[in-house]
Amino acid sequence: MTNIIQSSSTRRIQYSILRAALASILLLGAARLLFDELKNDDESFLWRFWWQQGSGLNERISTGTADKDFEDEEDIEDCNVFEGKWVWDNVSHPLYTEESCPFLVKQVTCQRNGRPDPYYQFWRWQPNECNLPRFNARKLLEMLRNKRMMFVGDSIQRTQFDSMVCLLQSSIPNGKKSLQKVPSKKIFHAQDYNASIEFYWAPFIVESNSDHSTNHTVVKRSITHPDDVREYNVTTAYKMALQTWANWLESSINSQKQKVFFMTLSPTHLWSWEWNPGSDGNCFGEFYPIKVPYWGVGTSIDISRIVQDTLRELKVTYVNVLNITQLSDLRKDAHTSVYTERKGKLLTKEQRADPTNFADCIHWCLPGLPDTWNEILYAHLIQEAWI
Ligand SMILES: *[C@@H]1O[C@H](CO)[C@@H](O)[C@H](O)[C@H]1NC(C)=O
Ligand SMILES: *[C@@H]1O[C@H](CO)[C@@H](O)[C@H](O)[C@H]1NC(C)=O
Ligand SMILES: *[C@@H]1O[C@H](CO)[C@@H](O)[C@H](O)[C@H]1NC(C)=O
Ligand SMILES: *[C@@H]1O[C@H](CO)[C@@H](O)[C@H](O)[C@H]1NC(C)=O
Ligand SMILES: *[C@@H]1O[C@H](CO)[C@@H](O)[C@H](O)[C@H]1NC(C)=O
Repeated sequence: MTNIIQSSSTRRIQYSILRAALASILLLGAARLLFDELKNDDESFLWRFWWQQGSGLNERISTGTADKDFEDEEDIEDCNVFEGKWVWDNVSHPLYTEESCPFLVKQVTCQRNGRPDPYYQFWRWQPNECNLPRFNARKLLEMLRNKRMMFVGDSIQRTQFDSMVCLLQSSIPNGKKSLQKVPSKKIFHAQDYNASIEFYWAPFIVESNSDHSTNHTVVKRSITHPDDVREYNVTTAYKMALQTWANWLESSINSQKQKVFFMTLSPTHLWSWEWNPGSDGNCFGEFYPIKVPYWGVGTSIDISRIVQDTLRELKVTYVNVLNITQLSDLRKDAHTSVYTERKGKLLTKEQRADPTNFADCIHWCLPGLPDTWNEILYAHLIQEAWI
């Protein structure tokens, strides 16, 4: 096993999540084999963000925004927005385009990178029992006035951050918005609102040997723990990591002022035999979402249970779980596939012709699926504003 002992006066344990991941969360292991050389080959493990309130939300909303803005509100309070279906809607979606968002990175601009079909952009998530409210950038900016919204996690989380920036930026005039990159962070600032939307690189959300923004190991990725030097299987390691995080929440979050969301695992589509028995491809060449109820092999019930148990045991902090795993599992069509970059360079024609080795079935195109995650997040934030 590949334990890296850190030089530290206190004894530290490094329990490798990765090796264990090969056993229980298959997607992590395969991701590593396929994307060893990838620059941003951070697999989705777990991620969350917290939202810091500077001042009273209700007060701000009642004074800051015209009533008519709220007329089209959809009520999601008694509705499980994560149960539903994907419907074709090329009228309301996508919510922005590659051309209209100057902040998109080339890792995700699939159209520009040569993807022949535009279909993945035209799907809208339709919950069974309610409608998601229409994303209103000005309304969200008003809610975020004098606040920070921070996305913490890995590259999947970063894509959600990029999506949020694109969703918001079009309602802010040039010169009144900026995107800043500092090590481990990306910060979007909306001047007139004194609002910042931030991404913070912390792939395991607890201390790990992969926390440096550029110089992070992939093969030997592990998290640090202050007890002793031991290895644990992935479920145990995950539980310990989440518990460490939960303890931090309990001692550090002021629920009056800070709101915490936890995003569940982002699924992968590395093996087409999962949804198309007998085939041996991956997400490459997939043009449509899966229509039938579907659970990928990477969607671990154990992990879900750990999340639920850990969060249920919290005493002072309330964490809102955004359970996007299942709805995303259906979107085998929404990955960047070969229309992306590797080591900072777009794939060459030859590499694109070799999807077996080069398709990225972990990350997602923008505009695309992560916009839906943000539409759901938006629905929750708007809902909160009413309570
Ligand atoms: C939207 O989709 C419908 C049904 O596939 C198609 O007939 C129509 O041309 C599309 N409209 C646009 C603007 O792409
Ligand atoms: C601007 O926003 C920050 C939070 O990001 C807050 O601490 C600060 O008080 C705000 N400034 C004003 C003038 O309200
Ligand atoms: C990257 O990190 C490793 C391990 O911490 C260190 O030995 C190495 O010098 C670092 N490389 C650079 C270019 O900073
Ligand atoms: C992981 O380890 C724990 C504690 O040693 C054990 O109870 C559990 O069954 C193991 N899980 C797997 C999937 O091996
Ligand atoms: C997410 O939703 C799925 C399907 O509804 C459920 O089985 C799973 O337990 C949920 N996970 C969490 C962490 O709530």
